[in-house]
Amino acid sequence: MTDITAKAESWGSRVGLILAMAGNAVGLGNFLRFPVQAIQNGGGAFIIPYLVCFLLMGIPLLFVEWSMGRFGGKFGHHSTPFILDSMDKRAFWKYVGVFGIFTNLAVAAYYCYLESWTLSYVYHSIMRDFAGQSPEQIAGFFGNYTGTPGAETYVFWIICLVLNTWILSRGLSGGVEKVAKIGMPLLIIFGIFLAVMAYTVKAGTNGAINDGTVGLNFLWTPDFSTIWSAKVWMAAAGQIFFTLSVGMGSIQCYASYVKPKEDIALNAMSAGWMNEFVEVVLGSAIIIPISVGYLGIDKVVEMTKNGGLGLGFQTLPYLFEQWGSTLAVICGAFWFGLLFFAGITSSLAMGTPCMGFLQDEFGWKRENAAWAFGGAVFILGLPTVLFFNYGVFDEYDYWAGTFSLVVFAMIEIILFAWVFGMEKGWKEITTGADIQIPIAFKFIIQYVTPVLLAGVFISNIPFLIDKITNADIYTELAKTTDVAKKEFLEKKIIYVNMARLLLLAVFAGVSYLVYVAYEKRKREGRIS
Ligand code: TRP
Ligand code: TRP
Repeated sequence: MTDITAKAESWGSRVGLILAMAGNAVGLGNFLRFPVQAIQNGGGAFIIPYLVCFLLMGIPLLFVEWSMGRFGGKFGHHSTPFILDSMDKRAFWKYVGVFGIFTNLAVAAYYCYLESWTLSYVYHSIMRDFAGQSPEQIAGFFGNYTGTPGAETYVFWIICLVLNTWILSRGLSGGVEKVAKIGMPLLIIFGIFLAVMAYTVKAGTNGAINDGTVGLNFLWTPDFSTIWSAKVWMAAAGQIFFTLSVGMGSIQCYASYVKPKEDIALNAMSAGWMNEFVEVVLGSAIIIPISVGYLGIDKVVEMTKNGGLGLGFQTLPYLFEQWGSTLAVICGAFWFGLLFFAGITSSLAMGTPCMGFLQDEFGWKRENAAWAFGGAVFILGLPTVLFFNYGVFDEYDYWAGTFSLVVFAMIEIILFAWVFGMEKGWKEITTGADIQIPIAFKFIIQYVTPVLLAGVFISNIPFLIDKITNADIYTELAKTTDVAKKEFLEKKIIYVNMARLLLLAVFAGVSYLVYVAYEKRKREGRIS
């Protein structure tokens, strides 16, 4: 038998559960990462692989992760090491489950930092601090804020961490669910308002050079020329994983608090499609039409060449100013407020697997587990704050926010479909289902998704090798004659390597805790 020492937590209501799950998925990825990925990969050329990845990888993985979570929850497990263990007893799976804690910690480390910028920008928008500034001044503000972090940077970051920790310490129905119930509707209202503003941008009015529709057409005119590019497919798959929060362990954790016979099929689809609505409709209707309206497609493509955070933080505050002071305040507060709500409902989801693990395995109280998470995020986040310009932030995003998701998803779907077994798996997915899931998904989960995942992974290996060997930085280094630039790049190599070692150490540390937890279970005779 299993022992349920931790206070039995659960969701307060079905609406609350769906909104919390949607809040988990809807995040900064929808509004900042998606438009940039789309632009970088050719606009209309990106959309087809993106939608295919949603149908053939995203949806199947949602079913798999929701049902794995509910299954593990029956035995009192709320984090992936022991959720996976409940599906197959071989020790290997517990250590695969380490990904589901590691990813959340490491992503939270840079994600909460990004989230804290949005708070600061709400404040500055309302204080009219962007009024009368040149585009260079507004872009420079961001450069300073992140490049040479001062008191303000730290204050907002700490506020954001404490806020997350405090909400987490109030529990699922008392904290996370309440924030989702307030944040999600507000986010959608803000988003619709901004999308309408973007749509009505008119060439020749307020300094715009294009209609708002020019940007929308760039995104929505299908372009088949790059349909066979491995890079575009990789980007599309990576975006689907990141945005739906699959391959991360946070869906399994939320789902482990669902009651055994309660529906997961319809819930998974409601939350998943809500995320796609917010991403594809709202996420593409704000940044792209506004920035293309004022700057033109070529300039926008150029600006997203090296990373995407520029458009949202460096450009939009300036463009809002073109609409007059009242609208500048409203749009600035709405845009950064929307980003904040999107961000916090996701970062809360990153906290729950870590807390669940400490509560289940070491009997920690919820409050203490929350503070432990907050403390860990602070320590791990510090390098992304201190060495942002050296690419530490992007390094975390690549290893924890992209690479790990694909690896974990690939292994967990094999566990589900081939080790746990597809017959049992299908029964898990359909038990209590309020919708009839097309039987085709049984085949897709067993064959199509794993093959596609393996394909994405294998075609990405050359890129992976370049990444590990710092090939790009060395190429750049070989080309520069500038002494200061050389010095910068040499430092960058050191910081990037240190970031990787740190992430590896975190992975090893979590693995060790899983080992200790397992030995503890054996000693206490709690092996189910
Ligand atoms: N899906 C979120 C977004 O689009 C990110 C996210 C939510 C996440 N939960 C996570 C990332 C857990 C890693 C781990 O922004
Ligand atoms: N390296 C990422 C990118 O340029 C950084 C990033 C941009 C990001 N937007 C994000 C990370 C949103 C998390 C969420 O695409």
